[in-house]
Amino acid sequence: MPLDSAIRTDVPADFTTPLLAIAVPQGAMPASLDALDRASGGAIQRIYAAKDFSGKKDEVALLYPGGKAERVLLIGTGKADDADRDRLRRAAAIAAKRAQALGVGTAAFHLTREARGAVAPRDAGQAVAEGLGQGAWQFIEMKRPPDEPRASLTRVDILVAPDAAGFDEGHRIGAAIAAGQALARGVQVLPSNVCTPSYLAGVAEDLGRRHGFTVTVLDKAAIVAEGMRTLMAVAQGSAEEPRFIVLEHRGAGGSPTVLVGKGVTFDTGGISIKPAQSMEDMKYDMSGAAAVLGTFEAIGRIKPDAHVIGLIPSTENMPSGTALKPGDVIRSHLGKTIEIINTDAEGRLILCDALSWARRYKPARVVDLATLTGAMVIALGHTATGVMGTDEGLIERLRAAGERAGERLWPLPLWDEYRDLIKSDIADMKNSGGRPAGSISAGWFLREFTDEFPWAHLDIAGTAYSDRDDPTRVKGPTGLGVRLCTELVLDRS
Ligand code: BES
Ligand code: MN
Ligand code: ZN
Repeated sequence: MPLDSAIRTDVPADFTTPLLAIAVPQGAMPASLDALDRASGGAIQRIYAAKDFSGKKDEVALLYPGGKAERVLLIGTGKADDADRDRLRRAAAIAAKRAQALGVGTAAFHLTREARGAVAPRDAGQAVAEGLGQGAWQFIEMKRPPDEPRASLTRVDILVAPDAAGFDEGHRIGAAIAAGQALARGVQVLPSNVCTPSYLAGVAEDLGRRHGFTVTVLDKAAIVAEGMRTLMAVAQGSAEEPRFIVLEHRGAGGSPTVLVGKGVTFDTGGISIKPAQSMEDMKYDMSGAAAVLGTFEAIGRIKPDAHVIGLIPSTENMPSGTALKPGDVIRSHLGKTIEIINTDAEGRLILCDALSWARRYKPARVVDLATLTGAMVIALGHTATGVMGTDEGLIERLRAAGERAGERLWPLPLWDEYRDLIKSDIADMKNSGGRPAGSISAGWFLREFTDEFPWAHLDIAGTAYSDRDDPTRVKGPTGLGVRLCTELVLDRS
């Protein structure tokens, strides 16, 4: 099912395809489309002359010009001077999403020289591959096929101008990242009766087999034996067994980058149960884990000279006769004690044992990704991911990676004053600081477990999934974090 895209040097006017999507900048018809326009009997010029299309960002026009391409889809990228990776990624995503909706099995995408503007060919190749994957993604496996099924988009041929040296190399990276993002979305979207902690472990083991990673899975007995008591405290209320998943890519020696993903496969809130409204979205509470798995898919394809470790603590959060209760005190893997105020603040409980576990690798940096707080959605909405941490250099690198990836980060402070929010009367800390600065108190809780390495935390609660379609993707899981983490690992920013 993953979309296959390939670069071709054919000229657009001579290319036979059910759909030719063309990215064009704002203004008159780009000169590079003259040949195609002539081959189409002037159909493209006519739409410009009628002022029905001018190439504004996200503007589209669908033509049936009667040339070799059955359909031509013009996609505006806005002012040529504003061209950047994000605009090109968007145009490619719009093309693929529309191709999917039209039911064409294959399509072509032509990036005009004019639309590329000052974007380097290598970056353009990457952005286009990423965008095509983003726009093409869909999840239809759980529906009965319609009586007259439409073809799914399986291949997009990319037509580039011959002067675009480096485009191929960028495309190879982008296609790997797109495959990783598709893997993440495919895991995120699965309901919790399918996507259990042992299912996530199976995905990791499959990645290991396909790409040669070392994968270790700790089952419940091993988690108990290792003393991951806060992970067990969350898991103890569930009939479904927890897993602790470790993936390792050893593309180089030296101290590793450790990526930690929250893998709560369903978050009911536990005894501090959530309201029913939108509770079904809590199947997405394993989105941090999905981002780590997707990043490993990309890494497996790119095989960078880097040492990367993925850690996924995974469990359900359920209420039951054996569940964790408010007031309970748990001694974490690190040894610090935690008073449970709210069993719905479970993400930090499973992450803190994973952060403690990470010390053994003497990491160069640790980055965790988690759908951690509803307060994050209130603060930044669905537009940006909150970043907190102990290392300004790491935070800056992450932000630069986020700009390249089109996955924006915005910093929140972990000032000392905020530590008071999680002060407990009887334990080293409590697991909830209440409503004020809810994302920051969660960050501070994690910080208590990160003394031995540079660390940053990404709260993806607002960005991991979306409740509405936009021109570039369907609603549902976004696979956010895969592009960002792969950029961090490649470190070309
Ligand atoms: N998984 C939720 C956070 C969440 C909420 C993610 C909405 C995506 C959308 C997390 O486990 C949680 O329940 N957090 C609590 C913490 C509180 C009890 C301190 C919250 O945000 O309400
Ligand atoms: Mn919760
Ligand atoms: Zn949660």
